[in-house]
Amino acid sequence: MNYAIVTFGCQMNLHESEKIAGILRSVGYEKEVAPEEADIIVFNTCCIRENAENHAFGNIGALKKLKRQKKGLIIAVGGCMAQEPGKAQVLKEKFPFIDIIFGTHNIFELASLIERKKSEKRVISLYEDRLETEDGAPACRTSYPNAWVNITYGCNNFCTYCIVPYVRGRERSRSADVIVEECRALIAEGYKEITLLGQNVNSYRDGDVDFPELLDRVAAIEGKFRLRFMTSHPKDFSERLVAVMKKHDKILNLLHLPAQSGSSRILKLMNRRYTREEYLAKVALLKREIPEAEITTDLIVSFPTETEEEFGETLSLVREADFSSAFTFVYSPRTGTAAAKMEGQIPEEVSKDRITRLVAAVNENTRRKSEKYVGREIEVLCEDFDEKRGLYLGREPLGRMGYFASENNCVGEFVRMKVTRANGVSLYGEKI
Ligand code: SAH
Ligand code: SF4
Ligand code: F3S
Repeated sequence: MNYAIVTFGCQMNLHESEKIAGILRSVGYEKEVAPEEADIIVFNTCCIRENAENHAFGNIGALKKLKRQKKGLIIAVGGCMAQEPGKAQVLKEKFPFIDIIFGTHNIFELASLIERKKSEKRVISLYEDRLETEDGAPACRTSYPNAWVNITYGCNNFCTYCIVPYVRGRERSRSADVIVEECRALIAEGYKEITLLGQNVNSYRDGDVDFPELLDRVAAIEGKFRLRFMTSHPKDFSERLVAVMKKHDKILNLLHLPAQSGSSRILKLMNRRYTREEYLAKVALLKREIPEAEITTDLIVSFPTETEEEFGETLSLVREADFSSAFTFVYSPRTGTAAAKMEGQIPEEVSKDRITRLVAAVNENTRRKSEKYVGREIEVLCEDFDEKRGLYLGREPLGRMGYFASENNCVGEFVRMKVTRANGVSLYGEKI
């Protein structure tokens, strides 16, 4: 008996799919295979934007025929879309062939839901919220040499465009001791990079331990490894955090600091709780203390009522904050969020034009910054072999992807390479 997991969405979901894999293995599923060959297919869905949902709908719908042909095949749908208010009902009606629906709060229950499916036609189990932070789901990790480690779950920020607080529940922090122990064990097992995960890592708190303190403790674990964290909410990004980043070489000088918009009026409507000037002050603080630090970001165009001039402020932020790369999105109204009810939704043609110009500005900045790498020596942590290019790939400490040829398999090794060519965030070169 084998399994397939189809994952949509963010790192949080990627890691939760590793937990789902762990649970499936614990109940006798042997290995991960392509969906056509699997005995159980689990969809781990995302609902952050409409296209993420359509993607999931399309993928699930495509299985109708397979389900009819293959007796005993179990199809389970979990993740943020399943948890979205009212969506389980939609899934149930639209796809009568789904066997199990579960939410973001009860992944740990999956084994018992599979057991129940043996005697019930269809199993649906959703929890409204859950405050426990340990679920005992044994992760079957697939991202070596990186290991994802949750530090917080949920979000309390209620940015007006965002569905996450509704599908992930209230913010809660895991115990610092448990996190540090998990990281220690991962390093001992041979992982070379740890990424601490939370919707807003900066609001982590366990008693007296806040995020800078936790980061300091994890960085103090012995061994050669890289330490990253995401995501940082600009309103909580602090001088103390910068001091800890500066103190430890292991902590990458790479900060994902979503700005969302360059306009203070739009930021206010988004309920982000910082202005353009405050955002730029945080960037300046980081660069003053760690001049080589790089910042990546998320940007949204066409939030309701955004004018051409305000969009221009997002465009100019790209250069001013000197982002090394950015995820760029067109605002997508999400039912139940405050912004979905706002007047002044922006027409599609305007959004298309804005996103095209923003992507061009980001690419131009990325290109300009990457070109400086040509001729330099960098150290990458080799992650994988790219079949298409016939090259190994790995990230340098500031987030760019380095590609190089190698006779031997060097996945999981730190490799020094000389950069000969840059293309966007990708650097090509020779192993030294
Ligand atoms: N917790 C993280 C982000 C989680 S969602 C943070 O606060 O930064 C990832 C990104 O998706 C967000 O940063 C935002 O840029 C984008 N996003 C969220 N909701 C969106 C929506 N309704 N439309 C378009 N983009 C959205
Ligand atoms: Fe969404 Fe804002 Fe929470 Fe990030 S901080 S998950 S954007 S509500
Ligand atoms: Fe992540 Fe999508 Fe859920 S971005 S938290 S998987 S809505």
